[in-house]
Amino acid sequence: MRVAVFSTKPYDEEFLLEANASDQHDLVFLEPRLSRATASLAAGCDAVCAFVNDDLGSEVLRILATNGVRMLALRSAGFNHVDLAAAADLRLTIARVPGYSPHAVAEHCAGLILALNRKIHRAHNRVRENNFALAGLLGFDLHGKTVGVIGTGQIGSRFVRIMAGFGCRVLAADPYPNDDTRLAGAEYVDLTELLAESHIVTLHCPLTPETYHLIDLSRIELMRDGVMLINTSRGALVDTTAVISGLKSGKIGYLGLDVYEEEADLFFEDLSDQLLNDDVFSRLLTFPNVLITGHQAFFTREALSNIARTTITNLSAFERGEGAIHQVTVDSLA
Ligand code: NAI
Repeated sequence: MRVAVFSTKPYDEEFLLEANASDQHDLVFLEPRLSRATASLAAGCDAVCAFVNDDLGSEVLRILATNGVRMLALRSAGFNHVDLAAAADLRLTIARVPGYSPHAVAEHCAGLILALNRKIHRAHNRVRENNFALAGLLGFDLHGKTVGVIGTGQIGSRFVRIMAGFGCRVLAADPYPNDDTRLAGAEYVDLTELLAESHIVTLHCPLTPETYHLIDLSRIELMRDGVMLINTSRGALVDTTAVISGLKSGKIGYLGLDVYEEEADLFFEDLSDQLLNDDVFSRLLTFPNVLITGHQAFFTREALSNIARTTITNLSAFERGEGAIHQVTVDSLA
């Protein structure tokens, strides 16, 4: 099958070519992000392979379908960026890659917590300048602290295990509690209790219309003073303006982000010789107690290998007329 692979980076090409060795799809690697302006590059392709910041709104899907595309293989677990109703109208099959490496994201989340707490990013800069003073680097023991995990699916439940290993008390909130998370040592409570009790709050739920700005001003008010807030899930789970207010007042003592609501225009590109036009993001960067990574939580060798293999499996199943193995439909939002 001829497949247009948008937002291709060298590492995508490497892992997809390796995974495609036996199935031999005709992969057309395209560097641009998928958008209204670039969608017609998929003309003549049966399928499109897209990543998290590609535009998969109704207009782009219509252009793809008009150009003969019948299937969309997402290289991501999240599918919040796809207009699923429009895809159904256009008879486009959508597949994703669930659980390609929950360890990768859970471990990165733990990394953000450790770095923020012990100020490792700041210590590294100091030592490189022969500044070995410790003032300003004081941290706290994770042991005995309460960690609140919002969303205990594949990633959240792995993360619970990691934090339990540190000797933390773990609280969890999820409309669908599971035994795996309980066995890992978490106690399910309602969101209000979780926010009020946790020293660290971390988000592992998907972005849906219900979870949009789940963390807003009113929920920040419920949190402990000096709370650590971590978001490795999707940017729009958090109202960034409200979080900035929380940082200014000291309510939020630490902020760790791997995702940002307006990341599509920033992340995955080297913009080091450009001025940033995003004033909200620029403000975030001014806080010493904010640590941001550019959507790299998934970025491990194991995850890229699994993403590539599942993507090729999805494409091959569709080509054989079996639909997609990890299909996403409007019902997936329910
Ligand atoms: P999953 O589908 O296994 O688990 C999500 C969990 O969230 C489910 O248990 C669900 O019941 C729960 N949930 C849904 N609505 C909720 C709500 N209102 N409150 C609390 N919990 C709620 O998904 P998985 O694989 O654990 O991934 C979670 C999210 O992580 C993805 O949706 C994606 O946005 C993000 N992600 C981020 C990556 C990164 O590189 N930063 C990489 C992969 C995923």
